[in-house]
Amino acid sequence: MLETHQLTIRFGGHVAVNAVSCRFAPGTLTAIVGPNGAGKTTYFNLISGQLKATAGKVLLDGRDLSTLPASARTRAGLGRAFQLTNLFPNLTVLENVRLAVQAAHAGPHRRGLNLWSIWSDHRALTERADALLADTHLKAREHDVVASLPHGDQRKLEVALLMALEPQVFMFDEPTAGMNAAEAPVILDLIRRLKQDPSKTILLVEHKMDVVRELADRIIVLHNGTLVADGEPAEVIASPVVQEAYLGVAKEAA
Ligand SMILES: Nc1ncnc2c1ncn2[C@@H]1O[C@H](COP(=O)(O)OP(=O)(O)OP(=O)(O)O)[C@@H](O)[C@H]1O
Ligand SMILES: [Mg+2]
Repeated sequence: MLETHQLTIRFGGHVAVNAVSCRFAPGTLTAIVGPNGAGKTTYFNLISGQLKATAGKVLLDGRDLSTLPASARTRAGLGRAFQLTNLFPNLTVLENVRLAVQAAHAGPHRRGLNLWSIWSDHRALTERADALLADTHLKAREHDVVASLPHGDQRKLEVALLMALEPQVFMFDEPTAGMNAAEAPVILDLIRRLKQDPSKTILLVEHKMDVVRELADRIIVLHNGTLVADGEPAEVIASPVVQEAYLGVAKEAA
């Protein structure tokens, strides 16, 4: 169970996330919606540790992660899509995915300098990387250098790397933004598949309400950094606060 307790961050006088308390259970997908600047990305950054909270706590299965840096939170099971600036831009797509797979399996991989175990580990890692590239429709790009990828493929690679880490909690921040009509379904299919796994907790920031309606078990709404609605998708979408605070903005954006 992922929990935030009164999670808050202030930038100067501006409270970007204001005392947000929420619990996210395994086997559920929660959509986080709200107008531009509502604090959705900042909330993710506070959970993943990219930003340090002014007040409040982040707990995973009862363990307080609030004082840990982002890298330790990743090891604890909080998965946030990599930003491509964190990658190795001069390595190929396959090399990047292999490194992420290797990082996730660092234990067995270091079980000793036995030629057989090195060979079988190598094969297992390569097969896993291969499967991830197939899942994200990046096979045709596997030998391309990351820096040369078009935007949509970069976004797909971010998702492949997140999957490679096998986190307990998946945080997707507008995962299909900037993708074309052929690319977005690839990512949405992956999220659909992840949802089948009852041990995974999925958080999805998404502006497209048709996607939210289809995928979310629950919707929470942030407005000016504050949690203003939380509940069943149909109920939240119909609520006056969402109609006013969110859907007006969504219509403008469409
Ligand atoms: N590092 C920062 N320094 C100062 N202000 C920030 C910082 N990061 C975010 N903010 C402010 O916090 C508020 C919330 O921003 P945030 O990016 O979380 O919104 P969002 O809900 O993700 O919006 P969008 O839908 O446009 O992605 C905004 O007013 C933003 O300007
Ligand atoms: Mg955002």
